Amino acid sequence: MTSLDTLFEAAKAIQAKAYTPYSRFKVGAAIATPEGQIFTGCNVENAAYPVGSCAEAGAISAMIAGGGRRIGEIVVMGEGKHLVTPCGGCRQRIREFAAPDTKIHIAGPEGIRKRFTLDELLPFSFGPDNLTDR
Ligand code: THU
Repeated sequence: MTSLDTLFEAAKAIQAKAYTPYSRFKVGAAIATPEGQIFTGCNVENAAYPVGSCAEAGAISAMIAGGGRRIGEIVVMGEGKHLVTPCGGCRQRIREFAAPDTKIHIAGPEGIRKRFTLDELLPFSFGPDNLTDR
């Protein structure tokens, strides 16, 4: 099992690498798979603003490319005093690889601030089951 401390440190380290010349708002995400692997991602902005990508999307891409298929838990590390919860699109991205009770830890530089389950952030969600269990 990956410790939450390890996952927190991984999110913090990748946050520092974010490419954010436009928002100056760095986000890091670290996923632990049930097998104990860790995959990380940061936000990558673009001069064509809508083309930028979120930290969670980067972490999910890294997980898939690395052979992982399930999110055991995820830490999202943001800046500022507010909770940096995943955007709507990223909640759906997480949904694809997670269970209703999968933990989403929201962190700031000082530590974990709040923990949600996926179902709390994305209730009544649409997912693979909708397509397979018909
Ligand atoms: N951002 C993330 O990477 N993840 C989130 O959960 C919220 C927002 C990024 C997108 C953009 O680069 C910057 O934060 C400001 O919106």
